[in-house]
Amino acid sequence: GRGNYRHFMEKELHEHPAVLGDTLRQYLDPKTLEVRLPRLPFDPAKVSGLTVSACGSAFLAGSVGRYWIEQLARLPVHADVASEFRYRNPPLAEGGAAILVSQSGETADTMAALKLLREGGQRVLSVVNVPESSMARESHGALLTVAGPEIGVASTKAFTAQLAVLACLAIGFGRARRELSTLDEGRLTQALLEIPGQAAQVLEKDAQVRELAAVVAEARDVLFLGRGSLYPIALEGALKLKEISYIHAEGYAAGEMKHGPIALIDSLVPVIALCPSGPLFEKTASNLQEAAARGGRILAFTDAEGVAPLSRFAERVIELPQVAEISTPILYAIAVQLLAYHVAVLRGTDVDQPRNLAKSVTVE
Ligand code: M6R
Repeated sequence: GRGNYRHFMEKELHEHPAVLGDTLRQYLDPKTLEVRLPRLPFDPAKVSGLTVSACGSAFLAGSVGRYWIEQLARLPVHADVASEFRYRNPPLAEGGAAILVSQSGETADTMAALKLLREGGQRVLSVVNVPESSMARESHGALLTVAGPEIGVASTKAFTAQLAVLACLAIGFGRARRELSTLDEGRLTQALLEIPGQAAQVLEKDAQVRELAAVVAEARDVLFLGRGSLYPIALEGALKLKEISYIHAEGYAAGEMKHGPIALIDSLVPVIALCPSGPLFEKTASNLQEAAARGGRILAFTDAEGVAPLSRFAERVIELPQVAEISTPILYAIAVQLLAYHVAVLRGTDVDQPRNLAKSVTVE
């Protein structure tokens, strides 16, 4: 049951710290600070490239995985939603490999992608939450997320658990390909091991996020902006908001603003910015400032270092923990999920069972 929580989604949001801890402990050794992966169906040092495919939020987790794998392992990754991938007749590299991501392990389009990949001679690894699912059984290998059953239609803990597995994979690939030193591996795994505690700190921002939700709940359209690995999280924030509050939302790469979407900016469209400090901070901050100069209401998530510069033009700034770059997509994902949750509650929608949606999409 959902215990003392109002909704399964609220309960599942509060399970983040435990689920992230359980999932990370499955693939990291906290004593040696090493990644411990089971035997993989392909050798990351030998493959020339990877295909990543999935649907919905699982695809967005895979898209963050692409950033990590390219950055840490210098392995080219092609990412595409399964419903497109399956009909594109994509040329598949000989000796290539693929990663599929799915909570249920039963999504029709992702299963079709699996079939296509296998027929095309690719070695397929799945990141799944249900061990006995079709996808886990029919892939060459499966890495399990340890999220437990997820009842809310909107994915929460399963999504961040997928990210945790993909982060471990990217580090493991980086080691196998000699792109990362033992020292790098230790630094990165140490950062990941701090995530469960930091996730709890994000959840403690509940009251502030609820205040932000009150602003968002009044809007008809909302923009989410992010850069780098936070770009897929901007898309995830928009998806989650649409899904459970029925407010129209779009996610954009911050740098794309001036190529079109900035035309939408006025005081009626809140702009949710995912803007942690780091190498891309200045770039995103300047995109936000441009939006603010055109009357946009900037509502920003950042960290201690980002608060002062963003407060110069943002209407509201919520401070999340100051963390290593690799950890930001996971923690900012929790923040946007929490935001969507509170907006939906304020709008009085059916949070756990939104209209027109099924938890697992087993038909095309
Ligand atoms: O079971 P899967 O992870 O394969 O499901 C994929 C999508 O249907 C799913 O992530 C969907 O987008 C969620 N409702 C998002 O919250």
